[in-house]
Amino acid sequence: MGTPAFSSRRPANAAQPGAGTAALTDALHRPLRDLRISVTDRCNFRCTYCMPREVFGPGFAFLPHREVLTFEEITRLARIFVAHGVEKIRITGGEPLVRRDIEKLVAMLSAVPGLHDLTLTTNGALLKKKARALKEAGLQRITVSLDSLRDEVFMAMNDVNFPVRGVLEGIEAAAAAGLHPIKINMVVKRGVNDDDVVAMARFFQGTGHIVRFIEYMDVGTTNGWRMSDVVPAAEIVRRIAAELPLEPVEPDYYGEVANRYRYQDGSGEIGIIASVTIPFCRDCTRARLSAEGKLYTCLFTDVGHDFRALLRNGGTDAQLAAFLQSVWRVRDDRYSEIRTQETAHVRPKVEMSHIGG
Ligand code: GTP
Ligand code: 5AD
Ligand code: SF4
Ligand code: SF4
Repeated sequence: MGTPAFSSRRPANAAQPGAGTAALTDALHRPLRDLRISVTDRCNFRCTYCMPREVFGPGFAFLPHREVLTFEEITRLARIFVAHGVEKIRITGGEPLVRRDIEKLVAMLSAVPGLHDLTLTTNGALLKKKARALKEAGLQRITVSLDSLRDEVFMAMNDVNFPVRGVLEGIEAAAAAGLHPIKINMVVKRGVNDDDVVAMARFFQGTGHIVRFIEYMDVGTTNGWRMSDVVPAAEIVRRIAAELPLEPVEPDYYGEVANRYRYQDGSGEIGIIASVTIPFCRDCTRARLSAEGKLYTCLFTDVGHDFRALLRNGGTDAQLAAFLQSVWRVRDDRYSEIRTQETAHVRPKVEMSHIGG
């Protein structure tokens, strides 16, 4: 009892894309549903698995301001994407809260008709200051990254000596502001923070916040990823369930990234994001817009489609729409499914801090 069988397949009754929605689908029949918008490539952390200090040091060339899309440009694109099936927008970075007046963008996006879900992923460092303004601007919910509850482990991972307390205060401020539900993302790396998995689950059990344990991924080319660093989802679930009995839950929506589990005593739920051991490319409905206006159709590609050029050269909405259609119709990305094939390892990839994970 208490250790559920770990399913390697999504339930057959996972919701399918609704009838009557825009018919834009890719080469593998996947609709466009989620847009992740990176608003800056900068971050106030230097997480070793994402922006290692040796690479992202003082000499690193971040995008100059003029190359970054304005809030007006982002909102114009968002309207076009929503007209083509996007229902959810997630604001990312780098760290999105370091972009000045980010709440103004939230207000502009929350006014886009047809958008059902507007959320943001943050490291939480500036959340205490920003939570209320974000909520008032129309942000519906929020995801906060937190890799350990122990300062020595967390500080070694964020590599800027940021304490756990600061993130917890951000989470408390978000909860007080009404940004529900709050999700907590923990990237699990073997030998670094895997011993903190159960403590993290226990800490947030009963709070209404949902911890999601993420398998460490080979994003970008700078984090020195090795398969032996990955703690497989099945092991994560086994370790938690051994102490806190769990049972699987159906996905919330078509293409949901996390596999959901709830505590058998009714004290809440967790998610496991198993992008390495159980790829979910088959249902991948995500597009990623980088801060300088390039569209990436997969987290693991280096091909960005340049919407900024069209925006700044007088492109009409019809031309922007045609460009989006031409990109999405031929999309055939499924990197996580082919990761173990030899060629997948050597291909160039965009850095995660550039497109926000
Ligand atoms: P909800 O909208 O709350 O369900 O969140 P989400 O599933 O969009 O999750 P979130 O954006 O917080 O993503 C969590 C993590 O999952 C990311 O930071 C990535 O590490 C990973 N992830 C998200 N999308 C993808 C994807 O398309 N491919 C892969 N390989 N990993 C992804
Ligand atoms: N593997 C898995 N998740 C990662 N993230 C950043 N880099 C990686 C990686 N290599 C996650 C962060 C954050 C989100 C933006 O992406 O922890 O939750
Ligand atoms: Fe910054 Fe998030 Fe990358 Fe950490 S994972 S360096 S907080 S963008
Ligand atoms: Fe989507 Fe690419 Fe991730 Fe597969 S690897 S789920 S196609 S972003």
